[in-house]
Amino acid sequence: MTETLLETPTATDTADTAEATEAAEAFAGGFGAAVTEAYSDALAEVYDDIYPSTPDLEDIGTYLLTLTEPGASVLELGVGTGRVAIPLADQGFEVHGVETSERMLARLAQKDPQGRITPVHGDLTTLDLGRTFDVVLAPFNVLCCAMAVDEQIAMMHALARNVAADGHVVVETFDPSDYHVQKRNELTTYPLGDRGTMIESVGVLPASQNMMLQNTLFLDGGVPRSATTVMRYLWPSELDLLAAIARLELVGRYSGWREQPFDGGDSRKMCVSVFRPLA
Ligand SMILES: C[S@@+](CC[C@H](N)C(=O)[O-])C[C@H]1O[C@@H](n2cnc3c(N)ncnc32)[C@H](O)[C@@H]1O
Repeated sequence: MTETLLETPTATDTADTAEATEAAEAFAGGFGAAVTEAYSDALAEVYDDIYPSTPDLEDIGTYLLTLTEPGASVLELGVGTGRVAIPLADQGFEVHGVETSERMLARLAQKDPQGRITPVHGDLTTLDLGRTFDVVLAPFNVLCCAMAVDEQIAMMHALARNVAADGHVVVETFDPSDYHVQKRNELTTYPLGDRGTMIESVGVLPASQNMMLQNTLFLDGGVPRSATTVMRYLWPSELDLLAAIARLELVGRYSGWREQPFDGGDSRKMCVSVFRPLA
């Protein structure tokens, strides 16, 4: 359960000024996976408290069975601590998971002592496993873990490179509608059980579609620790363009894993996009 705390002023108040444009341009080249890696390393020990596993995660595997056969191979990009991968393995899929953060992979190994999930320590922007998978899955905003669009194009190429000719690429992103018009930093608290709490501050640069996330961890009564990253949100139409660049075509779009219709404009809902390789 999270709670939005309060609003503080940000540079987005000056969104129509030269400073805002400069700030937006600051991320234009991207900084690669290093920023994400440091951020994920910092949050790995509390990731499962922030985003706990829930029974509805089984809906992902149930949906994938409409695209492929039981026991099919799934490559999850940005596997994290296995929140999605473990239910997929429980449902009988052969799961491989790519991740840049070694601390996330260490958590995954603790949660998967039988080694059902094949971990791959690597960078999604350059990934080529030399084989293909029935499904290549990028859940929970993994494609938004980038500062600049060129990194996102590289990720989309990696998705396309690793999917079978008759396979599917499945991408889950948040609907950015509300964030795009957010004028001030928003603070949200995440309770971390008896260990403490985390406060997340999110500011938005609409000109470059960047969000800066600043997380402060108050853990075990110790000195607060900070972790910062920058993401770049994607509009569904933009996702289709990136997919076309990587020679993928859209075959389905939903606002959830139960194939709920996607109508857009509601940031409380996710966007599930399904692509297949062009011949
Ligand atoms: C929002 S988390 C999602 C984790 C997991 N899929 C889930 O649903 O809980 C995104 C994950 O992708 C990883 N990631 C982001 N960019 C990456 C990159 N360029 N290469 C490899 N992993 C990356 C992050 O380290 C993080 O663990």
